Amino acid sequence: MRLLSLLALSAVSLVAHAGVIVPGASWKDTSGNVIQAHGAGFLKVGSTYYWFGEDKAANSALFSAVSCYTSPDMTTWTRQNNALTPIAGTMISNANIVERPKVLFNKANNNYVMWFHSDTSDYGAAQVGVATANTPCGPYTYLGSWEPLGAQSRDESVFQDDDEAQTAYLLYASDNNQNFKISQMTANYLNLTEQVNELAAATLEAPGMLKRNGEYYLFASHTSGWDPNPNKWFVASTISGNFSAQEDIAPEAGRTYYSQNAFDLPLGTNSLYAGDRWESTLLGSSTYIWLPMSWATGVPQLVWADVWTLDIAAGTYTVATGTSYEAEDGVRSGSSVILPSNPSFSGGEAVGYLGAGGSVTITVQGIGAAQWVALYYANGDSTWRNTTVSVNGGPSVVVQQPDTGGGNVILSVPVELTLKSGSNAITFGAGQTNYAADLDRIIVYTTS
Ligand SMILES: *[C@@H]1O[C@H](CO)[C@@H](O)[C@H](O)[C@H]1NC(C)=O
Ligand SMILES: *[C@@H]1O[C@H](CO)[C@@H](O)[C@H](O)[C@H]1NC(C)=O
Ligand SMILES: *[C@@H]1O[C@H](CO)[C@@H](O)[C@H](O)[C@H]1NC(C)=O
Repeated sequence: MRLLSLLALSAVSLVAHAGVIVPGASWKDTSGNVIQAHGAGFLKVGSTYYWFGEDKAANSALFSAVSCYTSPDMTTWTRQNNALTPIAGTMISNANIVERPKVLFNKANNNYVMWFHSDTSDYGAAQVGVATANTPCGPYTYLGSWEPLGAQSRDESVFQDDDEAQTAYLLYASDNNQNFKISQMTANYLNLTEQVNELAAATLEAPGMLKRNGEYYLFASHTSGWDPNPNKWFVASTISGNFSAQEDIAPEAGRTYYSQNAFDLPLGTNSLYAGDRWESTLLGSSTYIWLPMSWATGVPQLVWADVWTLDIAAGTYTVATGTSYEAEDGVRSGSSVILPSNPSFSGGEAVGYLGAGGSVTITVQGIGAAQWVALYYANGDSTWRNTTVSVNGGPSVVVQQPDTGGGNVILSVPVELTLKSGSNAITFGAGQTNYAADLDRIIVYTTS
């Protein structure tokens, strides 16, 4: 109760601004509402980008809507009408599952075709659903759900090739998520013709695909429910060819920076990774982890960026730099301690036993604006922790700290704080009865 009232009074926020991407922040649309478009699919029509996703505002896995957002630049999003809504008595009723909506334009019929994972609430049906519309946001007309080519399908995506026919494929986790399959669609994209590939016993889900220099790159996670795992990439010279052995898209320990692939787009000579950070206990608060995927080394690797700017038209990205402050240099109070020296921590040290009576205050320089501050922390539990953050003795905001996969694994979470020009004292862990995560350092940004 106490923390909730502090939150309501708070002058700070967790909200990203237009033009800047802050992975893990609560991302708002142009009306000021949190974007509800999880398990994303993207489509460009003319000069407009469309973002389709699962609206999980009701904090339930059950179907409430496939949302549709538009943007001129992939960073500023305006919510449009819902693309798909529940129909009682069908496989897309509000007692069923509709996940990972992906839309393609079909030139044969001059229409838009949406594919999605269609399931019962226990995920036992394992089907695909298909719907069509004459405009990108629809609303779409539901055509039906079925097991593609008679086999199970759970997580799925679509891929449209760049050949003259614009041949499209369904990418899907089949056979109880054991075998990953690729099947070719009919010319109208309303059904499948044949299976063209199978990664047997690959246990993949959350797929996406990019074509690059004529080769087919598949991205996918493994299967660990809402929890993250190290997402992988694979390459094949043809869509039906032998895919390479799996490789990580990010350092393994961070489990893809606590995210799961949803969609992968070209970005100039690099790519854009759009992932979900699922918050399983409060699904509607799940955030988006969008990161540059660099090909500088010849293979795809995510670039961690607390704050970055995306110029989709130019095909470029800029990672913001900030000023780093070590937690161990802060002023500790109560039961907080400097943890034993450990090379995983920046400066070799971090502050532990924050919360439940311990706090640390770090003095930083501000510019007199709302500024992004990234909290680098370790949470070796299997569940999320959280920390209070208070600026200059003002009201606190609570920042979530997902489990990092180990006490020596560092991740960062963003919070937007209003800092005055000059010195500011930021206190972590005060006024909470639960333990916060171990705090390694914070980075204060001026890019907004
Ligand atoms: C899709 O094609 C299969 C044959 O491969 C057929 O049995 C099924 O009825 C078709 N589904 C729809 C919705 O047209
Ligand atoms: C297929 O790819 C796997 C994994 O890279 C490799 O071990 C195998 O030799 C390849 N098979 C063929 C027929 O190229
Ligand atoms: C913070 O974490 C504690 C312990 O896990 C939990 O009981 C509490 O509800 C959390 N508070 C918020 C605001 O998430």
